Amino acid sequence: MTDSNITSGGLTAPRHLAIIMDGNGRWAQARGKQRVSGHKEGANAVRRVISECVRLGVKELTLFAFSSENWKRPALEVNALMALFVEAIRKESKNLLKNGIKTRIVGDKSKFPSILQSQIAKVEELTKDCEVMTLNIAANYGGRWDVLNASRNLLKDCLANGTNPDDLTEDDISQRLNVISNVDLMIRTGGEQRISNFLLWQSAYAELYFSKTLWPDYGADDLIEAIEFFNGRERRFGMTSAQVQAKGELNAD
Ligand code: FPP
Repeated sequence: MTDSNITSGGLTAPRHLAIIMDGNGRWAQARGKQRVSGHKEGANAVRRVISECVRLGVKELTLFAFSSENWKRPALEVNALMALFVEAIRKESKNLLKNGIKTRIVGDKSKFPSILQSQIAKVEELTKDCEVMTLNIAANYGGRWDVLNASRNLLKDCLANGTNPDDLTEDDISQRLNVISNVDLMIRTGGEQRISNFLLWQSAYAELYFSKTLWPDYGADDLIEAIEFFNGRERRFGMTSAQVQAKGELNAD
């Protein structure tokens, strides 16, 4: 698996881009509006960013829409977010299919209202054979939960198959995560510089980019700026700079 794709515009898009969409509440408050209107405007930014990612050649996009900790928010806001997810999936399903976007909701879906669970099942089934880009919407997701869940499943398999624990590899865990592939670039909008329990295992070697732009204002220019930053990084994966350069020359031959 390669970790990036060359695009026609000369930018090298990350193969797997992950985004922590932050700043909806502050965007709304700055305009004297309810927080919910920030989330609604945030949904428009989601649409913009998905189509820009397809254009740039990103193969996998994972968006943090609702963390396991977000249930602690006021009930009014949580309910509005659930309604927004239902509406967004209902409105966008056909577009996702038309654009070849395989859509998955990753996280503990069992806690969602049944209407949302059935919308999720529909869009996942509808788009399951799409190949242009994979869109993972992380909802009721936490990185530690993902690793715990994978570990539980691995333990069950080991007990069933009599596997020796000493024979286990990192890949045995990776393959049981909700999101399997490594993240190449992780962006957080809204000015904070934290990972907030997102894709902890998968972002072990991700480049991190923090943008001050509040999520509802996020657009193509912001995304290109982040990818330019990504293109300027030397990804060493534990090697020395000289080793990376020698490997690059070898690959170019
Ligand atoms: C963080 O901003 C944002 C969220 C917790 C929700 C993200 C949801 C959307 C963008 C809505 C649509 C999503 C989809 C997938 C259709 P915040 O509320 O924490 O902002 P703040 O830090 O300014 O308070």
